[in-house]
Amino acid sequence: MNNSPLPTTTLKPIRRIAISTGGGDAPGLNAVIRAVVLAALQRGWECFGIREGFNGILRPDRFPVDGVFKISKDQVRGISHLGGTMLGTTNHGNPMRFVMRNPDGSEYEVDRTDDIIQHLRQMQVDALICVGGDGTLTIAHALHQRGLAQGLRVIGVPKTIDNDLDKTYTTFGFDTAVAFATDCIDRLHSTAESHRRIMVVEVMGRYAGWIALHAGMASTAHAILIPEIPYDIEQVAKKVHARTKAGRHYSIVVVAEGARAKDGQRVLEEQAQLGGVERLGGIGEQLVRQLEALTGKEARAVVLGHLLRGGSPTSFDRLSALRFGAAAVRALDQGFSGIMISLAFPNVEYVNLDEVAGRMKAVPLDGDTLQTGRDIGICFGD
Ligand code: F6P
Repeated sequence: MNNSPLPTTTLKPIRRIAISTGGGDAPGLNAVIRAVVLAALQRGWECFGIREGFNGILRPDRFPVDGVFKISKDQVRGISHLGGTMLGTTNHGNPMRFVMRNPDGSEYEVDRTDDIIQHLRQMQVDALICVGGDGTLTIAHALHQRGLAQGLRVIGVPKTIDNDLDKTYTTFGFDTAVAFATDCIDRLHSTAESHRRIMVVEVMGRYAGWIALHAGMASTAHAILIPEIPYDIEQVAKKVHARTKAGRHYSIVVVAEGARAKDGQRVLEEQAQLGGVERLGGIGEQLVRQLEALTGKEARAVVLGHLLRGGSPTSFDRLSALRFGAAAVRALDQGFSGIMISLAFPNVEYVNLDEVAGRMKAVPLDGDTLQTGRDIGICFGD
């Protein structure tokens, strides 16, 4: 276990903690909250929930009364199987790049992490558990760096359906997203075959191809296009032609929203605004037009989008989420701050937040999953 050094002697024992969920929601968030609250109560600590990322503190206009509220045992009863997050979440309003407005309407960014620390310390909160993806863990790292001297400890819990966080085998939410995408693609085989069409399935994943790769392989896709392998559309068309020649008149292409052609750019729905991130989307339709032109076949695009983030977490995700939540409380009890809980089979471990924040875990090109795909004849567009 990677024990980060901590000046525990200068910190008082914990009596109150808070929890926040940030970024896009992912199935399993409620299970984390349940485990955190129950593990905290069992130690005689109080647990507070911060609404909508840090908006419960930074946006009194949105939450005039209960932006931060005490969570009771009753409130976390029977929530492990529910999608979403009982705290609410946001992927806008990054406290490190908080957008403010001048009297003339123009906008500028300010860092408001100190406001969060002061608010929590005024409430006598001794520790904060931040559950989220790369953005949230970067904020958690900054809160740890600035907050520790003021008596605030911070632990990160990794969450994202994209599975693109470094230093953890997987994140909760990913397995649920892959299972749902697999089911959807399974269903598309029969309609594609009946109509002799190409079905292009666009899945989320941001700049990593984990969901596309895992769901595409599990559901017998014929081509899988991921950001890690810029594709040549001619290769995909060649695969479709080869299938037709062999008497298979339909094809399934799974494409990650962040994939791009060898000589092209990522397809965006929206450019990044001040304080925000760019929105990917639209590559499925683009591929449909190109493949129709190159193969003479009819093609349709299906965008799974936010459906991948909904529904009940799989048992794997529920269990990982419960383990992450309980481990975060145990880490606090042991005197840690500035670490993230990581899944390193068969156990959970602690890794320093500075080893995680700002880093992305891409699909390894020499990994055996990708190699398996190649061995069974899947086209990756290269
Ligand atoms: O990070 C999770 C994720 O669902 C990505 O896969 C996707 O690109 C993004 O969030 C979508 O964000 P929004 O909810 O703002 O549309």
